[in-house]
This record gives sequence, C-alpha cells and structure tokens, in this order.
Amino acid sequence: MKRFDVITLFPEMFSALTQSGVTGRAEDRGIYDLVCWNPREFADDPRRTVDDRPYGGGAGMVLMPDPLVKAIDSAKKRQAGSGVRNSTTIYLSPQGRLLTQQLVEEISTYDGLILLSGRYEGVDERVIETRVNQEVSIGDYVLSGGELPVMVLLDAIIRLLPGAVNHFDSVVDESHSSGTLEYPQYTRPEIFEGHRVPEVLLGGHHAQIKQWRNKQALERTRLRRPDLLKTKNSDS
Ligand SMILES: C[S@@+](CC[C@H](N)C(=O)[O-])C[C@H]1O[C@@H](n2cnc3c(N)ncnc32)[C@H](O)[C@@H]1O
Repeated sequence: MKRFDVITLFPEMFSALTQSGVTGRAEDRGIYDLVCWNPREFADDPRRTVDDRPYGGGAGMVLMPDPLVKAIDSAKKRQAGSGVRNSTTIYLSPQGRLLTQQLVEEISTYDGLILLSGRYEGVDERVIETRVNQEVSIGDYVLSGGELPVMVLLDAIIRLLPGAVNHFDSVVDESHSSGTLEYPQYTRPEIFEGHRVPEVLLGGHHAQIKQWRNKQALERTRLRRPDLLKTKNSDS
C-alpha cells in the first residue's frame, strides 16, 4: 500500500480525490491511504496563526516554518511507523520541475510521499532547505494554493498503481505514456449526426486496427504537439 501524507490548510478539499472515480475506488481497495495534516493544529498560539508578513516587505503573507515543519515531521513519523522505507517530500510550487508523465512514473516508485501545499505567497524558504527533497510544478501559471497541484500529481500516480484502473492496458496506451498523443476514440452509435465511425474499426481486424491507430497517433502528435516527437526521437 502506498502512503500519502498531505500538508494542507484545506484538508476538506481532498475528499474530491478520495471519494470519486478511480482514485476513490483505489482508496476503498486499500491501494493507498491518505492522511492530511493541517499546520494550524501545530500552531502554538490561541489564534492558530500559520502565516506572517515577509521579511524585507512586499505584498502578501508567507507560511511560517514552525507549524509546517512540525506537520511534516509528524507525517514522516507516521510513514516510518507504517513501514515505509522509501519516501520523498515534495513541495508543489510554480518554481519546481515541470510535471510530465515521465516524472509521474519516477515519483510513483516511492512507497511514501509527503506533499506540501503552499498558500499565500508560499512557504518560508528554510522549510524547503531543511525538509523538501524536490519541488514540482504542474504548469507555467500560478494558482492560489498547492491543493489542486497535489491532487493532480496524486491522481496521475494512483491510476498507475496495480489494481486502480480496471483495464490496465488503457493506461499503457494513453497519451504521453509512449511519447505520443493517443489515437481518436469512438463508441456507439455507428453513425452520429451523419458522422460515421472509421470503417477500419468496425471490421475486427486487429492488425489493421493497430496500424490505423498508430498512424493516427503519430499524425495527431505531429499536428498538435510536434515538440513531443522531437523529444521521443532524441530519446530513442
Ligand atoms: C500564489 S502561489 C505562490 C507563488 C509564489 N509567490 C511564487 O511566485 O513562486 C501559492 C501556492 O500555490 C501553489 N502553486 C501555485 N501555482 C502552482 C503551480 N503551477 N504548480 C504547483 N504549485 C503551485 C504553491 O504551493 C504555492 O506555494
């Protein structure tokens, strides 16, 4: 079982991940467990303060190190107590390494993940220096918090775990898993608003279908994301 521990001021947001679809079912099946740690619970003043103004001035507030570090250390303790030997602490940040399918696969090899969601202007740099192993960005734009990025990363990881997706082949075939986009998909009816399903998909000739799909995947990638083909060719 994978162990995921999330440091967040908004633990309630994570029910979106744990209660629906593939990721909800995977938790029910005991493929992973997820525990949220709210830094407010580690604040030592009566108002449970977790943020303060930045040294040097400037707009916004910064998450203070002490409650975050205590939350991270508690998460680490839980993971160690659950027998996790191979764990990494990731801060979701627009300054991190850009998330790709390759990075998802890399991160999915850890047995335990501790995922830090920032808020406001971010977290005190000393938390990153002393507790974080890697920073991951989900794209070149700025969100108001790290909760959605944590869920994006976890969703992408969970669907790779054995038993999470009913038809594992569908994960192997998907866009980005082989360096190209996926071929177009069709289901019933055979004719929709006058548009027919391509003939080759109706014949049941597996080799021809495979050839057609490979061609479509390449063509689609060439038109929409030629940059992927350059990376694929330089890798092979
Ligand atoms: C408003 S952002 C802070 C941005 C920070 N001041 C900066 O310029 O780098 C608040 C939090 O949202 C999360 N976040 C925002 N955009 C993100 C992205 N593209 N990828 C991952 N996390 C992101 C981070 O956890 C961050 O601490």
